[in-house]
Amino acid sequence: MKKIFSGIQPSGTLTLGNYLGAMKHFVALQEENECYFCVVDEHAITVPQDRLKLRENIKSLAALYIASGIDPDKSVLFIQSEVSAHTQLGWMLQTVSYIGELERMTQFKDKSKGKEAVSAGLLTYPPLMAADILLYNTDIVPVGEDQKQHLELTRDLAQRFNHRYNDIFTVPEISIPKVGARIMSLQEPTKKMSKSDDNQKASIFMLDTEKQIEKKIKSAVTDSEGIVKYDKENKPGVSNLLTIYASCTGESIADLELKYQNKGYGEFKQDTADAVINALRPIQERYYQLIESEELDALLDQGADKANFAATKMLRKAKKAMGLGRVKKKKK
Ligand code: TYM
Repeated sequence: MKKIFSGIQPSGTLTLGNYLGAMKHFVALQEENECYFCVVDEHAITVPQDRLKLRENIKSLAALYIASGIDPDKSVLFIQSEVSAHTQLGWMLQTVSYIGELERMTQFKDKSKGKEAVSAGLLTYPPLMAADILLYNTDIVPVGEDQKQHLELTRDLAQRFNHRYNDIFTVPEISIPKVGARIMSLQEPTKKMSKSDDNQKASIFMLDTEKQIEKKIKSAVTDSEGIVKYDKENKPGVSNLLTIYASCTGESIADLELKYQNKGYGEFKQDTADAVINALRPIQERYYQLIESEELDALLDQGADKANFAATKMLRKAKKAMGLGRVKKKKK
């Protein structure tokens, strides 16, 4: 049995990219592993958030985890800020991180580009992410491709800490799906689909209505060739739709290319929209039942208790390794 950890930021409504690149793969993992899935709200505040909206997004994300198939009796589902060991170990790992390596992170460069006021938290985001992972003796971290660099840094920090202090952290492996690891924007298919894209037509959100999904896919940017073929370089739009279609139905891209040989983009786009709608429909139905119920709070309380138990143990080890706190004198 392996230990699995992954997290998603409650920084807006989740996109189809979050689902196909990450969440969808969590469900199968929980059958044979010890899994921890986290709503990383402390990561979300590295950029300004509206406090009421953030609160709403936190619960909404927790409900989406469950609606997509995370079973809180099999997996530990919890909110990061309810387990204080995360920020504590995050601080300790900042002291083994170098400013240069943090400044080299693509996500930091992208999010700070052109901004006058960049929070220090945006820079020190990766050691907090490393803390999330290392607290649970994690063997495998399932994520989309955009998190690869952060995971490589997590491995470096774990190794550096183990070497400098004591060999206490498991160095985690990264797991990226073969298809769907990088779902692209529907309007600019050379850019990843993102929760924070200003263009609403660029992203499909997990709670979009059928009409919205259909409209967005039908207006997705393609090309004038009229051939349904996977070619990321020359046909990024069509390739992205093929990836979306394949990830939603489990069909292979090669089979889809064959299916749409000599057919235009109209039919292909309609079927892609149907594939997305069919994948999201059962999740949306469960989501709306859950978000109305009182069950969610009890499940999150249970998750926070379990996560606290595991995380406190590892935090104690890390403090001891670094020499923090004190050793109490034994009573005579
Ligand atoms: P976040 O919240 O941006 O994204 C959550 C997950 O969705 C994946 N993802 C995508 N996959 C495919 N195509 C896309 N367009 C796409 N956009 C996002 C992400 O790769 C991610 O797996 N730093 C993390 C959150 C985090 C975390 C962790 C993850 C904090 N601590 C510990 C793993 C382990 C983030 O910002 O993800």
